[in-house]
Amino acid sequence: MTTRPAAVVVLAAGEGTRMKSSIPKVLHEVAGRSLVGHAVAAAQELKPDHLTVVIGHGRDLVAAHLTETAPGVTTAVQEQQLGTGHAVGVALEQLPELDGVVVVTYGDVPLLTGDTLHALADRHVADGNAVTVLTAEVADPTGYGRIVREADGAVRAIVEHKDADAQTRAIKEINSGIYAFDAAVLRDGLSRITTQNAQGELYLTDVLGLARQDGRRVGAVVTDDPWQTEGVNDRVQLAAMNRELNRRVAEKWMRSGVTMIDPATTFIDVTVVLERDVVLRPGVQLRGATEVAAGAEVGPDSTLIDTVVGPGASVVRTHADGAQIGEGATIGPFTYLRPGTVLEAKSKAGAYVEIKKSTVGAGAKVPHLTYVGDATIGEGANIGAGTIFANYDGVDKHPTTVGKHVFVGSDSVLVAPVELADGSYVAAGSTVVSGTEPGELAVARGRQRNIAGWVARKRPGSKTAAAAEAAASDTGDGDKGEQP
Ligand code: UD1
Ligand code: CA
Repeated sequence: MTTRPAAVVVLAAGEGTRMKSSIPKVLHEVAGRSLVGHAVAAAQELKPDHLTVVIGHGRDLVAAHLTETAPGVTTAVQEQQLGTGHAVGVALEQLPELDGVVVVTYGDVPLLTGDTLHALADRHVADGNAVTVLTAEVADPTGYGRIVREADGAVRAIVEHKDADAQTRAIKEINSGIYAFDAAVLRDGLSRITTQNAQGELYLTDVLGLARQDGRRVGAVVTDDPWQTEGVNDRVQLAAMNRELNRRVAEKWMRSGVTMIDPATTFIDVTVVLERDVVLRPGVQLRGATEVAAGAEVGPDSTLIDTVVGPGASVVRTHADGAQIGEGATIGPFTYLRPGTVLEAKSKAGAYVEIKKSTVGAGAKVPHLTYVGDATIGEGANIGAGTIFANYDGVDKHPTTVGKHVFVGSDSVLVAPVELADGSYVAAGSTVVSGTEPGELAVARGRQRNIAGWVARKRPGSKTAAAAEAAASDTGDGDKGEQP
């Protein structure tokens, strides 16, 4: 069975004071997705007719974030946080008259999965319940609403911690705040709840008690995974959630064929895609829309953001953002790849190389100590150590084109705009300001002249002078020009 709810309502209007943050709590991230983004992603798996997020504190930022990341989700503004019952009421007011199942969840419960929501909604329908609540047994239930059951196990009511007597507080089964409601029962209940409680709030939980008093079936699904019901209230919990979610994500990938040397130091956003036989070494962070193809190895100590790694590539101690790394390419160590970098198959970007908005052709090599910006490098080209692509004249950026199988000697500066034709050479130490034709060698440096006897005249008595003299008498062709 797959129950499709009429609506999912995500409550996210609260302030989250304990985060001590200038951004709303639900915009803080775990595993590369905002808290509210996790709630929305889980809700979307149910394919509801309507998905509404109730916003309040920081509403402009939350609304803008949802518009950007979750088109199709609507928001309902709760001006004042008068309680969870009031919040759901605000959402319903904005929706057409609903029929069927309404699921309510929270914007700060990042480990909750779509599968758990499915199981809740399916049980709700299968059992013919008016309300079904997701509950958990926890060691320390302090602060939570307690599930009060009848002798036969049916749910009688939810009693908030602040309203509970000692006997009720001893109950370890807590309300997660995640429910499936019959739409009509929810509407009716919300019209009847009052603020007669310890906090003077409109409690959504009272809808369950009312339904029960009306003789309706109220059920519970007890999860064996309390992490899924846990909210984030401060940054200590945020870090704990991040670690746990990361552990789960890592486990999922290992079970699908990814090797991780140390999952505890490997951080993988929920948005990342990995193929079989990928090897991740310690200290790797894969973020955003990063994808790593079969057999590629990443790490140790690398951060890839929105970067695509081709099959069998090797990426060692690298920071890459918005790069595409081709099949069998080798990157690192100590390499910085910036947005717009395309490394084609079997190309190389080696130690202390920075590349921005450039294409490195198939099999081309940029092995050492080089800056490449706004360039197109042809297949099989070799860029010598210490080459600088001088792309910026202080006002504008200019392109450089390096043809196929071009050889650029070490310590050259290619002053853009400039074009080196296929099959040309640049002599080491050149400052190239005009392009080459095929087959040419560009030499752009001071011509070397050697001044004989300079050391003896200008540095007499120095160790250098003594070494020169010794060498001259050894080989007999020193600065005196005498034969032995
Ligand atoms: C609520 C439940 C409690 C449950 C607990 C689980 C009620 C009365 N109590 O507690 O039984 O154990 O959640 O965490 O429902 N929110 C709004 N508008 C409001 C009030 C809350 O949007 O006016 C949102 C908050 O942003 C948060 C969620 O609802 O995401 C829960 O609010 P919170 O105050 O943390 O929960 P409690 O009411 O303490
Ligand atoms: Ca709470």
